[in-house]
Amino acid sequence: MPNTIIVGAQWGDEGKGKIVDFLTASADVVVRPQGGNNAGHTVIHGKNKYVLHLIPSGILWKGKTCVIGNGVVIDPASLVKEIEGLIAVDINVDPEKLRISDRAHLTLPVHRVLDQAREALRGAARIGTTGRGIGPTYADKIHRSGLRAGDLANPQKIRDHIAALCEDNAPLVAEAGLEPMDPDAMTSEVIQAAETLVPYLTDTVAYLHGAMETGVEMLFEGAQGTYLDIDHGTYPFVTSSNTTSGGACTGSGVPPQRIDRVVGVAKAYTTRVGEGPFPTEDPSLSEYLHGLGREFGATTGRARRCGWLDAVLLRYAGMVNGIDELAMTNIDGLDTHDEIRVCTHYELDGERLDLPPATADDLARVIPVYEVLPGWKTDTTGIRSFDDLPENVLSYLERLRELTSLRTTIVGIGPDREQTLRRD
Ligand code: IMP
Repeated sequence: MPNTIIVGAQWGDEGKGKIVDFLTASADVVVRPQGGNNAGHTVIHGKNKYVLHLIPSGILWKGKTCVIGNGVVIDPASLVKEIEGLIAVDINVDPEKLRISDRAHLTLPVHRVLDQAREALRGAARIGTTGRGIGPTYADKIHRSGLRAGDLANPQKIRDHIAALCEDNAPLVAEAGLEPMDPDAMTSEVIQAAETLVPYLTDTVAYLHGAMETGVEMLFEGAQGTYLDIDHGTYPFVTSSNTTSGGACTGSGVPPQRIDRVVGVAKAYTTRVGEGPFPTEDPSLSEYLHGLGREFGATTGRARRCGWLDAVLLRYAGMVNGIDELAMTNIDGLDTHDEIRVCTHYELDGERLDLPPATADDLARVIPVYEVLPGWKTDTTGIRSFDDLPENVLSYLERLRELTSLRTTIVGIGPDREQTLRRD
């Protein structure tokens, strides 16, 4: 039974939720190892559409256990809202089905304000964060001054911690021109959420190791994507966690030798939200896709920036994550295009680059070199078997394999589960 990690191979929003939902069919336990409610997966399950931020989409299935691992950051009130939202539509959520690591760090209301304050003060150098407090939470974790989910059982500690954070950061918040923070209101929000969350808290490492003894199949649902990774991404235009496959081990306490397979997820084109370099960005492709009602963020509603498939980035993502199989989503987004572009390599100061340069400054200066492939000019959304995909889709995937060594085994041609096709 393979334990599988699913990672985004681009800048997030690759359609991982849908691939996770597809692969969950054979999994027993679904683990979210990193990130916070900056993520947003839209999942169509049965006839219903759900937007999930922190809870793995396995929650929509009967008989699957979901784990929020130690590497995740949890905004307590937001998680309670998500739990209540699911219960309201008759999805069973209880402490057997959803297990939350008592070691996960807490995103406090102060962190949300700090995220906004720091962004405001960055001015033109802003990162374009989701404003959910993710960076300040991970910063406190690394600074060894954060609160962990286990602390939710200790209201006095929460009160004292929030009061101290408000006091320490009041000058920064004032400098950014934001309203002064209200520690009492912030504390009440967290303590109220704690009442719901405490029964879900557990040592998820012990749970996962116990589950492994019984031979269950596990799926690790990575959030965001490779180029938002704090180490391997387009720093500083990144999120604050390890979004690459290694993060699934540190963020869950499941060791590397228990991982059998890494599935990378990429769109048939590329998108990015927020600021930062994007070599293959093409405003006319953005306009085209937005015109189709596609590529608006699930979490913030922001229009995503769009561009062509970038084989340089995928090649490197394959290395960093150890991608065994590629899932390519949104093939149908290009159904009506006459020609499809793929960036094969970059040029920088007259030199050829087959891998991305180290700095965001250099990535902003590269010139993408394209190969133009014929479009398939076919409505792919009704296709139900991989082998029935148009010849030009198959040759696009084959060319990508030559360029990146990544073999596509799954394609997405629409939001429904039947629109996810697996190569035999
Ligand atoms: P943060 O994670 O809110 O700090 O945002 C940092 C960067 O990551 C910004 O460019 C965000 O737009 C981007 N980002 C964070 N989460 C996601 C996601 O789930 N999908 C796509 N981009 C994301």
